[in-house]
Amino acid sequence: MKKTKPLYEGKAKVLWETDSAGHMVQEFKNDATAFDGTKHEVVQGKGSFNNRISSHLFRLLAKAGVRTHFVEEISDTEMIVERLDMLKVEVVVRNIAAGSMVRRLGVEEGRKFDPPIVEFYLKDDDLHDPILAEEHVRALELATPDQIETMKRSALTVNDVLGGFLKEKGIDLVDFKLEFGTKDEELVLGDEISPDTCRFHDSKTGRIMDKDRFRQDLGGFMEAYGEVLDRVSS
Ligand code: TMP
Ligand code: ASP
Repeated sequence: MKKTKPLYEGKAKVLWETDSAGHMVQEFKNDATAFDGTKHEVVQGKGSFNNRISSHLFRLLAKAGVRTHFVEEISDTEMIVERLDMLKVEVVVRNIAAGSMVRRLGVEEGRKFDPPIVEFYLKDDDLHDPILAEEHVRALELATPDQIETMKRSALTVNDVLGGFLKEKGIDLVDFKLEFGTKDEELVLGDEISPDTCRFHDSKTGRIMDKDRFRQDLGGFMEAYGEVLDRVSS
């Protein structure tokens, strides 16, 4: 399969058309962004870490029966994925209170949720990805009622599979974001699963091992991504 032209460039990835109509190349860039792109740095090695971590986690999910767009890792920074029509919603699962939930609701950071919380957000940077009630997702026709149920079920399965796997590697899965798309009417998990899109905390020490190190200027940003890769691939 050969890359032909870039179809879509986001903040952290480029999606390339290929000579196969049903496939794309997803290339991970070295750009780190936060706060809707207002904080931006180029960080050597980041694209490779995210491609390799994402590939591992997609393979793990496929083995557990989750339908994902991942086909094959083809280079340090690239994977082949199936071409999807993406829904304009982001699905977030929270096991432990952090980030926007703490800011928005004044919840105590670190509070545990069992069962976990599943939330929907509108994928729109200009509007700063606002949170949506399920009724909004339905009324704005961002997803059908069936798709909403399938996304919730799938997100909780991903949480069980990833959470269990990471726990064995000494990592607590605090929260994460998923994006889904459709292929021939079937709902498929797309995008990436990496320390950019998840919160990972060391189970023993609570040390932050994800993009919060960049968001909060904590230092040791790439060292943490390297350690996540070492642990998930060991
Ligand atoms: P939040 O606490 O900022 O709402 O983030 C929840 C989770 O979703 C966290 O693991 C980071 C991830 N996330 C993204 O991947 N992209 C985004 O644009 C946002 C807002 C969050
Ligand atoms: N809003 C997300 C974050 O704070 C992503 C971004 O704005 O680039 O990480």
